Amino acid sequence: MKHILVTGSTGTLGRPVADLLTAQGHHVRGLSRRPGAAHQGDLVTGAGLDAALAGVDTVVHCASDTRRQGKTDIAGTRNLLDAAARAGHPHVIFVSIVGVDRIPFPYYRIKLDVEGLITAYGGTTLRATQFHEFVLSGARLAAKLPLVFAPDVDVQPISTADVAARLAELAADPVPGRADDLGGPEVLHAPDLFRSYLEAIGSHRRVVPVRLPGAAFRAFRDGAHLTPAHRSGGERWSGFLGGTAVKR
Ligand SMILES: NC(=O)c1ccc[n+]([C@@H]2O[C@H](COP(=O)([O-])OP(=O)(O)OC[C@H]3O[C@@H](n4cnc5c(N)ncnc54)[C@H](OP(=O)(O)O)[C@@H]3O)[C@@H](O)[C@H]2O)c1
Repeated sequence: MKHILVTGSTGTLGRPVADLLTAQGHHVRGLSRRPGAAHQGDLVTGAGLDAALAGVDTVVHCASDTRRQGKTDIAGTRNLLDAAARAGHPHVIFVSIVGVDRIPFPYYRIKLDVEGLITAYGGTTLRATQFHEFVLSGARLAAKLPLVFAPDVDVQPISTADVAARLAELAADPVPGRADDLGGPEVLHAPDLFRSYLEAIGSHRRVVPVRLPGAAFRAFRDGAHLTPAHRSGGERWSGFLGGTAVKR
């Protein structure tokens, strides 16, 4: 059994990762900035990192400054890797996003730079497609308008449980460099996903597919964020909608 630090353990992905690793019998520490957290630490200031990493043999790095488009992710990951090097060089597994090298979004460029830091350290990067929760939040936001606009692109949504399971495999048996990408079990048209959400909440609003301009959306239309050859066998979007308390 390993001693594993999970960064971002209070987040959408980090929580199921920490829960799964704990259920598998590992000694799991979760890093969070929140007062009262068992392992309180801040990747940006570096506070608490040495203590959190002492005696750890694996780090699963799920933390990200998602609310500010990854603004502090490069500095935060540098601090994490420096502290990891001081702590005896535990293996570090980082979760990134399919297509970060092909889609010119500022957040994706930052993820790509962080991947470079992870590779230079000798760690592992797993790129995953969009989480069910992320697609759901997009649908919820779109459903606030009388006409529900949906990007005219395909998506391959994945359950965080599936991503957690793959990260746990990589923690048990680390591979250096890029692991195979991981996508959800099916590739679906975003307007259809939004329609199924509306149906789940009993709304009869009309969904309007929108073709967005720009290089990033051209890359999305080309499927740069999809990995149809690497489908998880796990939960489908319909199962997620059925099993979640889907609120407006
Ligand atoms: N959303 C998607 O569809 C998707 C798809 C593929 C990959 N990913 C990647 O998966 C990862 C997890 O995403 P998520 O949606 O689970 O994120 P999230 O729910 O926004 O959680 C972010 C986590 O990062 C922690 N964090 C942020 N800044 C920190 C800091 N300075 N020091 C310490 N902890 C910090 C937060 O902890 P506290 O606030 O408790 O400190 C929180 O637990 C990200 O790297 C994301 O790019 C996401």
